Amino acid sequence: MVVDGTVRPLGEEYVRFVSEAWPDPRPFYDRLRAEAPVFWTPLGHWYVSRYAEASAMWKDNEHWSQHPVLPAQGSGLELGSGPAAALFAEMILRLDGIEHERIRGLVNPIFSPPAMEVLAETVKDSVNSILDLRADNREMDFLHDFAQPLPTTVVVDLFGIDRDHYDTFVRFADVIIEIFEAMGTGSHADDLVSRADEILAACYDLVISLAEDRRRHPAADTLSRLVQAQQAEPDRMTDSELVSLVMFIVTAGFETTMYTVTNMIYHLLLHPDQFALVRSDPSLVRSAVEEALRYEPGVYISSVRFAVEDMDVAGQHIRRGDKCLISNHAANHDPDVFESPNTFDITRSSKRQISFGRGRHTCLGAHLARLEMVATLEAVIERLPDLELVSDEVEWTSSHVLRGPTSLRVRW
Ligand code: HEM
Repeated sequence: MVVDGTVRPLGEEYVRFVSEAWPDPRPFYDRLRAEAPVFWTPLGHWYVSRYAEASAMWKDNEHWSQHPVLPAQGSGLELGSGPAAALFAEMILRLDGIEHERIRGLVNPIFSPPAMEVLAETVKDSVNSILDLRADNREMDFLHDFAQPLPTTVVVDLFGIDRDHYDTFVRFADVIIEIFEAMGTGSHADDLVSRADEILAACYDLVISLAEDRRRHPAADTLSRLVQAQQAEPDRMTDSELVSLVMFIVTAGFETTMYTVTNMIYHLLLHPDQFALVRSDPSLVRSAVEEALRYEPGVYISSVRFAVEDMDVAGQHIRRGDKCLISNHAANHDPDVFESPNTFDITRSSKRQISFGRGRHTCLGAHLARLEMVATLEAVIERLPDLELVSDEVEWTSSHVLRGPTSLRVRW
């Protein structure tokens, strides 16, 4: 950006971008795509901002791995040899090739669009029961009072987990985000690994006992279906892989969905003409949801990828072992793909947005997240016709992974 008539070097600007909470990174993305679409950052990794390379890289599992490829190469955070390291080694998002297919093939049917569509009414009930709690107040913090409990309620109910266990999963989700932040920025709190070991061990024991319970007393919930899928093919997934999978699926939808839902309502309120359009024509709800995912997703970066071999991408020479991050947020604003990309327009076709990633690691919970967004928007249209922002200004969360306001005060 321009300061006192001078333009800061891209590297300097990138460090500010990851360490400050910017209300609008779009001008920086415009500059990155124009000057260095595949950019070597001062933090020691590549950063991809153009749609063509972002989409291609996400699908290219031959040249990019989910874990370090060089001997003794770390991910940006040394996890040691405790529970956190063990869990990370088996986490679905960190698996490559046939190892990944082995696990993903087992869970895909459970999270397929038809399987999720059956849950539409349950998700609507969750949305309405949270709104019921707030209805009389006529004012709330949309983020904390609505968007935070929504995905936790939906996912924990989906798995048939007792609500007493909420806190354990929420603590686990928080520490996982901290680990992903550390992998992207290279800095973290001194006690991160010990805290991670402690909460991961507690969560692990909890899931083991829940899975054991479902083996003895199968129910109609998702955890029972996962346990049955494993029992049907015991050679396909070990007990500890099952636990790691459950822990990751349960928590992967917490803050990701919380921020995405909040950002959707924030931008609709900030653009009253767009909100009026969808209020007057609810058939636009799905298109508004897709545009919200394109314009301001709650997750704005991929997990770290590692180059499997030397290669050239967009004129840059990438060496075997190099780390790379893909910016779905920047790619979603690429003018080569989206006309006037910096305009929030719920009538555009946003289907090509890549906020759920692409390829084999595409978000497993994408259909569920969309259901939650649709149910939220429909309920807000129906039940809160006078909804408005208390203030147009919001403070943005300081995060390298998650994007959203720290709070969103609304009234009606
Ligand atoms: C709007 C909310 C959400 C967003 C924006 C989002 C975004 C993403 C992205 C970008 C990835 C790919 C990461 C990469 O390739 O590096 C991903 C993977 C994943 N997501 Fe989501 N997610 C959301 C909600 C959910 C929900 C609700 C669940 C589960 C119920 C979930 C479960 C997963 C899982 C298990 C993976 C790993 C898939 C694999 O490695 O095969 N996500 N998500």
